[in-house]
Formats: sequence, C-alpha cells, structure tokens
Amino acid sequence: MDQCRRNMRKLQFALIFMLIWQSRADSSDPFLLQTQSLPSDLNFMPSLSNGHLGYTVFGDAIFMNGVYNGATGNSKRARIPNWININAEICDRFGCEQPTHISYEMNLRDGYFHYTKSYASIGITLEQRTYPHRYYNRALIYEVLATRHATSTFINSPRFLKLTQQPGNASDAFDFVVVNNGSDAVGDYRQLRGRTRIVELEKFQPQAHEIHVAFSESLEQPRQVPWPTWQAQLQHRVAISLDRVESVALKELQDVMRLSDAALLASHTKLWHEFWQQHFSIEITGNALEFSRIVNAGIFYLVSSLPTLSSNQPNDPYYGLSPTGLARGNLEADYQGHNFWDTEIWMLPVATQFGYDYGKLLLEYRFRHLDAAQYNANATGFKGARFPWESAYTGTEVTNPCCPEVSQQEIHISPDISFALQKFFAQSQDYDWLCERAWPIVAEIADFLLSRASCEANACHFRQVMGPDEDHANIDDNVYTNAVSKIALDFAAWTADKCDSNTNHSARIANWQQLRNQLVILYDAQLDYHPQHLGYQLQAIVKQADTILLGYPLQFDTSSTHLNDLHYYANVTRESGPAMTWSMFAANYLGTAEFSRADEYFTRGYQSYVRPEFKVWSETPIGYDGSANFLTGIGGFLQALIFGYGGLNFARVNDTLQLQLTTANVPPNVQQLQVKYIQFADSKCSWQFSHENSTMNCSGPSTQHFELIQGNKHTQLGSNFTVTLNRGDLPLQIQLLNADKTSQA
Ligand SMILES: *[C@@H]1O[C@H](CO)[C@@H](O)[C@H](O)[C@H]1NC(C)=O
Ligand SMILES: *[C@@H]1O[C@H](CO)[C@@H](O)[C@H](O)[C@H]1NC(C)=O
Ligand SMILES: *[C@@H]1O[C@H](CO)[C@@H](O)[C@H](O)[C@H]1NC(C)=O
Ligand SMILES: *[C@@H]1O[C@H](CO)[C@@H](O)[C@H](O)[C@H]1NC(C)=O
Ligand SMILES: *[C@@H]1O[C@H](CO)[C@@H](O)[C@H](O)[C@H]1NC(C)=O
Ligand SMILES: *[C@@H]1O[C@H](CO)[C@@H](O)[C@H](O)[C@H]1NC(C)=O
Ligand SMILES: *[C@@H]1O[C@H](CO)[C@@H](O)[C@H](O)[C@H]1NC(C)=O
Ligand SMILES: *[C@@H]1O[C@H](CO)[C@@H](O)[C@H](O)[C@H]1NC(C)=O
Ligand SMILES: *[C@@H]1O[C@H](CO)[C@@H](O)[C@H](O)[C@H]1NC(C)=O
Repeated sequence: MDQCRRNMRKLQFALIFMLIWQSRADSSDPFLLQTQSLPSDLNFMPSLSNGHLGYTVFGDAIFMNGVYNGATGNSKRARIPNWININAEICDRFGCEQPTHISYEMNLRDGYFHYTKSYASIGITLEQRTYPHRYYNRALIYEVLATRHATSTFINSPRFLKLTQQPGNASDAFDFVVVNNGSDAVGDYRQLRGRTRIVELEKFQPQAHEIHVAFSESLEQPRQVPWPTWQAQLQHRVAISLDRVESVALKELQDVMRLSDAALLASHTKLWHEFWQQHFSIEITGNALEFSRIVNAGIFYLVSSLPTLSSNQPNDPYYGLSPTGLARGNLEADYQGHNFWDTEIWMLPVATQFGYDYGKLLLEYRFRHLDAAQYNANATGFKGARFPWESAYTGTEVTNPCCPEVSQQEIHISPDISFALQKFFAQSQDYDWLCERAWPIVAEIADFLLSRASCEANACHFRQVMGPDEDHANIDDNVYTNAVSKIALDFAAWTADKCDSNTNHSARIANWQQLRNQLVILYDAQLDYHPQHLGYQLQAIVKQADTILLGYPLQFDTSSTHLNDLHYYANVTRESGPAMTWSMFAANYLGTAEFSRADEYFTRGYQSYVRPEFKVWSETPIGYDGSANFLTGIGGFLQALIFGYGGLNFARVNDTLQLQLTTANVPPNVQQLQVKYIQFADSKCSWQFSHENSTMNCSGPSTQHFELIQGNKHTQLGSNFTVTLNRGDLPLQIQLLNADKTSQA
C-alpha cells in the first residue's frame, strides 16, 4: 500500500473512532465514568471489590477479606501480587503495535472497568475488561476482545495477542509455593499455596493464614494467543480464584470456566442491576450530571467493599469496612486495612440504607469480636468490653505503634458502636437481633464505661481522653465522648429491660443510669456554647468535626447552644480537615435552617476531594497527601445528602421507634431526588424530595400498621401508605401502632 492510501485509511479510521468516542463522551449516563486520560496518581484508579477480594485497577495488590500479616500494631492487609493485572498487546513476530488512542471507562451500573485501545492505522480495536465477580466472588476476571474492522487489510494484520501479567513485586506478606504447574487440560489449573508470615496475636490467632490461588492458565511468561488473519474477532479470558480453602478455590474456578464469556459476565451484571433496582439508588433530577456520577460512584465504591448477599459458595465471616476499603491496605495511607469508628459513625448509616443485611454484616464483625474487646478491656485495666481503636483479624488492638495515644485515649469508639447499634435497631425494629446481637455488646460497653469513669460528688468524668479532634490529646471531659456515652448508657439500660430476664441485674443497670445522669457535659453559660473539653480556649484550632456532632448525628443537643457551637467551631476547624467534617457542618446547618452555609459546606465536602476521572475520593483536598478511595468521606457525604438535605431520621423515643421527617432541601442545581428504597421496620419505601415537598411511599406486610403523628394529630396509616410533607408543614413522625416486643416476637 502506498503511503498516500495508507494515510487516507488512517484518516478514515481516525474519523470513525472519533465519532464513536464523541458519542460516548457526550453520553449523559450517570453510571458511566469515561476518560481519555488516567489520574496522575494511579492510587485514584477505581477500587474494585466483592467483599471477598479487592484490587485497585492497574495496582500491584489483591487483598482478601480478613487476611492480614504482621504482629499487633504491624498487622496489615496481606498483599497478594496482582495477578489479574494483565495487559494485552497486538503483535506480530517483528514487534507490537502502539495504540493510537485509548479510552477508559468505569461502568458503575454493570460493575466493571473497561478500556479500549484503538489502532487506527491497522483498523483494530482491543477491548479489555476486568472485574471481581459479584456472584462467583472467589474469582477475579480479565477479558480481552480484539476486533478487526471490515476495512482493514488482512495481509499485514498482526498474528497474535500478547498477554503480560504485571503483578508487581513479590509479596513480603506471604510465602508462596507452587502446588500444581497446570496444563492445558481443562480443570488442571496452575495452583499456588500461600502462607502469611506473622500472626497478629497468638492468643486469638494460633496459626498463620493460608490461602489457595488457582489460575485458569499460567501467565508466568508473556502468553501469545494466536489470532489467524481470517478471524475477525478474538476473545480470551483469564480467571483467578482465591480462597482460604483449597477445594473452594478450585470449585470456583471450575464453575467459572464452565460458563461462556457472555454468561459469566451476565451473572455478574445481573447482581449489580438488582442492587441498583431493588436495593438502593438515588436518582437526581436537575442540572446535575456530574453530581449524579459522584453520588453513584460513592454508592458503588462503598457497597462494592461489602460482601455480596448471594454467592456461588457461602461467604466467610466479614472483617469490616476499613476507611479505604477491601481493595487497599498496603500503604500507611490505607490505615493498614484496619477498622475504626469510621465504620459505625461514617459508613454504616449509609450501608444500612443499601439493605439491613449490609448493616448487620458490619455490626456482626463487632459481635464476633466481643471476646477480644473484653480481653482488651481487661488488658488495659478495665471491666466489660473495650473495643480497640483499630482492629483487624483478631479484634484486638492493632493501632500502629507510631501513635499509642489514640488507642489509649479515643475511648469514644465503644459508645460509638452502641450508638450505631441503637440507630440500626430504631430503623429495622428487629427485636430478635436486638436481644441476640446488640444487647451483649451494649451491656459490656456500659460496664466498660462504668469502670473507666471517675466520679466524685455526683459528677462523673472521663479523664485523659481524646475526642474525634486528634489534635488535642490527654484532655478531660471531651463533650462528644461524654454525650455519646450517655446515649450508650441509656440504650444499655433500655435494652436490658427488653432483653435481660435476670432480675438480679438491677444494681448493674442502676449504675449505668446513674453514670448517664452524672456524666458532665461542659457548657459555657456566658457564650452559650459547649467547650470541646475542659480548658478548651475558643480560638484553638481543631482537627475536624467534634463538638458539632452533638447535633447531627447524635441528636443530643439541637438547641440554640448547638447553633452557637456550629458558628464557633466553623471558624476554628483546620483547612486540611477530612472531607466528612464539611459534610457534617452541612448536615448540621441544614438542621438549623441556614441553607446557604449548608450548601457551601456540602459543596466543599466533596468538590475538592473527588478525583475527576473515576470519582474516587481522597481523604484530604487536592494539594494535600491523603488516602485514596476514602470511603469514610463518601459516608459523610451521602449522610449529608440523605439525612441532612432529606431531613430523614430514625430514632428511639422512649419506647417507640420512629421514622422522622422534617422539611427537605436540595443541594445546588438539583431539583429532585428519588431514593429507592428506604426501609423502615419491614416496609420498603420509595422516597422523593425536592425544595417543595417530601413524599414517602411505603409498603410492607399487612401485619404492620403504622401511625402518623404531626403536632398533636394522630392518623392511622394502615400497612401501605403515602405521606407527603410540604414546605412549611410541621415535622412528622411515623411509628408502628403495635410496637412492642411481644407483638413483634
Ligand atoms: C519493587 O522492588 C524494587 C526492588 O527491590 C524496589 O526498588 C521497588 O520500589 C519495589 N516497588 C514497589 C512498588 O514496591
Ligand atoms: C513446576 O515447574 C517447575 C519448573 O518446571 C518445577 O521445578 C516444579 O517442580 C514444578 N512443580 C510442580 C508442583 O509440579
Ligand atoms: C483481668 O482478668 C483477670 C483474670 O480473669 C482477673 O483476675 C483480673 O482481675 C481482671 N482485671 C480487671 C481489671 O478486671
Ligand atoms: C438472683 O440472685 C439470688 C441470690 O444471689 C440467686 O439465688 C438467684 O438464683 C438469682 N437469680 C437469677 C435469675 O440469676
Ligand atoms: C468567625 O470569623 C468571622 C471572620 O473572621 C467573624 O466575622 C465571625 O465573627 C467569627 N464568628 C464567630 C462565632 O467567632
Ligand atoms: C420519655 O420518657 C421520659 C421519662 O419517662 C419523659 O420525661 C419524657 O417526656 C419522654 N419523652 C417523650 C418524647 O415521650
Ligand atoms: C411535590 O413538588 C413537586 C415539585 O418539586 C411537584 O411536581 C409535585 O407534584 C409535588 N408533590 C406533591 C405530592 O405535592
Ligand atoms: C406507591 O408505590 C406503589 C407500589 O410501589 C405504587 O403502586 C403507588 O402508585 C405509589 N403511590 C404513590 C402515591 O406514588
Ligand atoms: C401492600 O403492598 C404489598 C407490596 O406491594 C402487597 O403485597 C400487599 O398486598 C399490600 N397490602 C395491602 C393491605 O394493600
């Protein structure tokens, strides 16, 4: 072919491809994140997980739920080389072609990462897709599809695909041995066995973790897949399965390899579609495409770190949502994959909206590690259960040795867990769960608080603590810690009444109630605000949202004092504070009806934290070093949207459990939000809200009868109902008519 014709052809292809890309780039689909360029820092590539396995696209690590390596504070997620990070090239025996164009796409609706390399001059496209399977959740999938376009010349067309695995360095967390080198025969897979090197704490982990990895083929050497020139398309797939149990890993790979490429993908996307259609979605109307994408990506990254609710083989117990999720854990910035208060205070309130099962799975992690929390209380000289500031596999304290004071002083994590248990119960109204799961935890936490408090002359204190504001160590009576402890003690006493048949415990319960009544809440009468802790001077800079949390989420104080807290602390909060700090200011300003401030903080709480390409969050604003895939920030953001703008709350008010609705608002440029579904008791509600009104449409079993309370007016709603709250109306509460233990049980 002469040079001129070759160039013509190049031009033709360039045009065709430009048209394709352009129509894609114009797409107004809020579930597609498309870009022509990657983030400058590849930590901000999408993190993909399925609750069992996780990896960051193009990253060097795979992580498995609950698999950590290292003793106590050095325990961190054990890095498995990223064997599913595979790169395909188009080659012939003289070398490989350079793509003329690459476009990347994160498909949130279907749950996969996809990218297309185009070779305009030879009329070929190469599409690659990778995803952790949501049903076959021991498996990670890589697929490549090469296409010769009709007009391409077959004569000089390349003859093979070259697949190169880029797993990164050998792992320092595992010793791997080859168990089987594999062969071409189906079912005879290459297989490795890995053992972690160091246990977390022998008392709770007698043996190292063992994992089994099975590969559909060996890619130890770059693999050449022949592509005969008469063949228009070539499709190839690589699967890897990983599990603690060898037979589970092998079965998973066999089950996966039995399916066609299309069937395998369809069984994955089906579960994602079910999630968006039947579990949770927020549809946004307005001039808000970018905002919708951020919302959808936030939901996606959060839920993808949670276990799948239906899987080919039973799930292992779940070891929790670390601040940067299951797909990360190797960097210091990944908090070693540990669990913090982030789970209960920032992420759980949103995860519960995805479905009660997700909320239960998160809280189940605490239940399963109650013994470790009791051990931790005892080891530090206290009674009851003291949940560690950081925990990983064993549930014992694993705070990084750098910073012992956070584990010694941030005792608020234990009452934070009680608060979350109460919140979950107020919404789900699951009395069996309350008595079987929540009660043992809240009782032991109340005992811990009792042993940790110092009381004199009818006043009790928590001394030498640290609140959420980690810039102030060793302080007394952090107001947030004391307020959340009062809530925890109150809930413990209330739950005892429902769940504890042992009447001999009345002294224990009376002690909890007494401590609740006597714990001091510092108050400055002159300025009518809450000093963050004893000796706090108003101008002192604080790290993050702390005292303001007394409003949202604690609902502990929503008086004028709270409004003053907001105004004072807004002025002294560090610029570099984490994203959810601003989300909490937004939620609280919405509660106090200061809308322009709320909008300003809400926008601040996400705009500079979300990296543009794949809407991956950073812990700190652009320009500061921070953690990638910061799920905690997403949790704060979605809480501000649902509970702040939406004006929704779930609460236990003495003996009743209520869904409370106040006047709704909408973020800038948004007209309406439609949330599907919010659950309340055993009902599912679709909920729409705008600046004008808020409508909840709920249906559920006919055994449930609800009542609407608005001001002094009580109205019976029956079991299926629609209620609308217009701007200016009094707040409303919905509660079950027959709400008590006996009628529920
Ligand atoms: C991989 O190992 C090499 C050689 O030890 C080292 O220089 C490099 O930093 C390592 N890469 C990563 C990402 O850890
Ligand atoms: C796998 O192959 C390597 C290199 O050929 C060989 O040394 C090793 O013994 C084989 N292992 C197994 C388990 O077959
Ligand atoms: C810790 O447990 C040991 C053994 O049960 C017990 O003797 C000790 O009193 C406990 N310490 C505290 C502070 O409760
Ligand atoms: C309550 O305490 C008394 C006296 O200590 C004991 O006899 C009785 O069995 C206890 N009851 C329960 C339900 O534990
Ligand atoms: C906050 O700072 C602004 C500007 O510096 C000032 O005008 C305002 O009075 C301060 N508010 C409070 C409550 O200190
Ligand atoms: C809850 O109970 C307390 C104590 O019995 C009572 O003072 C308070 O008014 C009750 N609150 C509501 C909202 O009914
Ligand atoms: C709620 O307000 C919207 C405008 O935002 C309006 O279209 C809709 O009809 C209203 N719904 C009800 C039930 O009043
Ligand atoms: C409420 O939802 C039900 C079923 O989901 C639907 O049939 C009904 O039309 C809805 N009602 C309103 C007022 O939107
Ligand atoms: C309420 O809605 C549910 C689900 O849509 C339906 O199965 C049930 O029959 C309805 N109950 C009544 C009393 O209409």
